[in-house]
Amino acid sequence: MPSLSEETKGRIDHLEPGSVIGIVGGGQLGRMMALSARYHGFRIGVLDPTPDAPAAQVADFQETADYDDLDAIKRLADRSDVLTYEFENVDADALDQVRDRVAIPQGTDLLRVTQDRVHEKTFINRHGIDTAPWKQVDGLEQLDSALKELGMPAVLKTRTGGYDGHGQAVLRTKEDLQALQARMKGRDFPPSVLEGFVDFAFEASILVSGNGKDYVTFPMVRNEHRHNILHMTLAPAQVEPEMADRARDMALTLADGFKLAGTLALELFVMSDGGLVVNELAPRPHNSGHYTIEACSMDQFDAHVRGIAGWPLPNPRLLSPAVMVNVLGQHVAPVRRLLGEHPEWYLHDYGKAEVRTDRKMGHLTVLTDDLEQTAKDLEATGCWSDLG
Ligand SMILES: Nc1ncnc2c1ncn2[C@@H]1O[C@H](COP(=O)(O)OP(=O)(O)O)[C@@H](O)[C@H]1O
Ligand SMILES: [Mg+2]
Repeated sequence: MPSLSEETKGRIDHLEPGSVIGIVGGGQLGRMMALSARYHGFRIGVLDPTPDAPAAQVADFQETADYDDLDAIKRLADRSDVLTYEFENVDADALDQVRDRVAIPQGTDLLRVTQDRVHEKTFINRHGIDTAPWKQVDGLEQLDSALKELGMPAVLKTRTGGYDGHGQAVLRTKEDLQALQARMKGRDFPPSVLEGFVDFAFEASILVSGNGKDYVTFPMVRNEHRHNILHMTLAPAQVEPEMADRARDMALTLADGFKLAGTLALELFVMSDGGLVVNELAPRPHNSGHYTIEACSMDQFDAHVRGIAGWPLPNPRLLSPAVMVNVLGQHVAPVRRLLGEHPEWYLHDYGKAEVRTDRKMGHLTVLTDDLEQTAKDLEATGCWSDLG
């Protein structure tokens, strides 16, 4: 478990406009970060292996190389005043090797904690916050004993590298377990965690942003996943103020634990008895926070940029309730076809060259006073009917 003792050394008091922010990762989160950085007056460099990556299209320069290419990270560091990242599977050791060249206000222990489910859950539990019951599992025998303890159904997840449900297996029955055992025979068992299956009422999330000293939260929102990928976010979550306050306290507790600079997302399970369980953390802006671009006085990307720049953070205000829906590869054509009839759709396109099924290509946000009706209206267009 990384200590967090060294984590204030990469901080800057106040990054001046004109300074260069280097972003490791050039996807949509990096793109929206870069757009924010741009209007705050910063310059932007991006490290991504794909030429003309989404973020690079709106940046000043791109280093075209793998995320873990140390020479490329050094080149990016040398051309930047501050480094940040748009995803958590960045090589923390590689970043540590450039800390004498560039400020890394988020630190690298935030990465080490959030990229490993064992460290992450340990950190969360240590701060008095609930997760699903879980056990570290490093082999088939341990899986057996963990299953005896936690019971079925349970979810087996790799410690590192998972996203959008990849690296996960739900074990509901003995047959599921036998199938998994057969699949794993003779193969290396990846370091994993087993989680008890959480019978949640719905999923939610909350974002918190910091500048290393002060922390602000965004409203708790309600999320709907389809096939393990976020489909829709309703903002706000429409829960009792007491529950929203609890979510806020959890977010602030973790932010303080990390001495957070930048934006952090907490994915939550909301139980029918009102309990709140943290599913996982993301040390970056989050898909469920895209609604903040149109619906809040400061969006999650602005908050991230201001936070790593050491600027003060205003309390983000929700200016209007909103629905955000993802545009995956299979939704691009129908959404574009219908766009002309929907002036209320604030469509964002990530500029990805290759359209693939289930690939996040864009999203759209609708400001509304009736979240349920707007969600229904969106579904009724048929654009997302493949998701069932
Ligand atoms: N312990 C669990 N119990 C019930 N559902 C779960 C559990 N863990 C994950 N899920 C479901 O799978 C989704 C993806 O899991 P998550 O841990 O967030 O992985 P990823 O890194 O792929 O987002 C969650 O949003 C939730 O819908
Ligand atoms: Mg998740």
